[in-house]
Amino acid sequence: MNQTRPVRRAKISALGCYVPPRLLTNEDLEKMVDTSSQWILERTGIHTRHIAGADQATSDMAVEAARATLAERGLDAAQVQAILVCTVTPDMFFPSTACLVQDRIGAKKAWGFDLVAACSGFVYGLTAGAQMVAAGVHDRVLVIGADTMSRIIDYTDRATCVLFGDGAGAMLLEPAESDGEGLVDFIHEVDGSGGQYLYMPAGGSRCPASHETVDQRQHFVHQDGQQVFKFAVRKMHEVCKELLERNGLSIRDVDVMLPHQANRRIITAASERLGIPCDRVIINIDRFGNTTAATIPLAAQDAREKGLLKPGKLALIVAVGAGYTVGASLWRWAY
Ligand code: UT7
Repeated sequence: MNQTRPVRRAKISALGCYVPPRLLTNEDLEKMVDTSSQWILERTGIHTRHIAGADQATSDMAVEAARATLAERGLDAAQVQAILVCTVTPDMFFPSTACLVQDRIGAKKAWGFDLVAACSGFVYGLTAGAQMVAAGVHDRVLVIGADTMSRIIDYTDRATCVLFGDGAGAMLLEPAESDGEGLVDFIHEVDGSGGQYLYMPAGGSRCPASHETVDQRQHFVHQDGQQVFKFAVRKMHEVCKELLERNGLSIRDVDVMLPHQANRRIITAASERLGIPCDRVIINIDRFGNTTAATIPLAAQDAREKGLLKPGKLALIVAVGAGYTVGASLWRWAY
């Protein structure tokens, strides 16, 4: 095919989120493991997490977020052309969660797939979807970040069980109408040497499920928290700085920073290094914990409620996660 397509820019045109109603508080966790509400609050900034009901899986939350997003834009699901579901907790290995969501919302003309990049999943998903729009092949791409972390957390391990919550969020990508809106630039990296510090050992082809893997609690998140912490602070600062510099921007130009919510101390350390005032950094980890692929849309929802996301505002999105995966992107808010 020797056809040149026009170069386009993608914009975010709608946002929707869902968290399950059930709450798990620090006080609840005090009764489950040897911890204190004060330790959790001081070391992580978390107080409450939302936990999926026994009958809810990742696709159920993803469907709610997708419907909220389409309703906001006033679109019928049949107008969506691609669905990317970013998750490390799919309902099952296959079919993909994207297929389950496509069927449930009635997106009859869409294709799609799951994207596995852990806590950086949504940032990667936005960039991947934006390239489909920029290439001129699609006009409406739905990116969903959804994780039911409570299903892969060991609630006897105090070092991990206090950190995570469940939730979902979605954004719709469409072609920008001018250069003054949409994706400005992005940086993504992986550093696979960090894989050993945050992973789920069993359930894949290396170590399939067996009585032993269950007995040894290998179907849960295993983490070396300090290693991940140090890498996250360094990388969040590094990629944001590079992204701004190469676009001739300074941190003063950023109207709002939407960081992945893994630990309040990671966010404050990275934003202090960047020199961005705290009133322009969204922190909602106190209410949601780390919802993995859902943290960025949940942060965007809060930013919008605070009036920080308006047409022309510059948003800096950044995440670091298992892999290691790293992602940052700059967006001119479009609506
Ligand atoms: O999205 C990416 C995913 N993950 C992350 O980004 C997580 C990054 N890491 C972190 O957020 C932090 O490292 C943690 C919150 C996980 C841990 O905080 P820390 O300040 O790094 O604590 P630590 O691992 O150095 O442990 C200090 C002490 C230890 O006790 P000893 O050995 O000093 O006696 C832990 O056993 O705190 C203990 N500890 C706890 N104590 C009470 C660990 N978890 C708990 C707990 N309650 N829940």
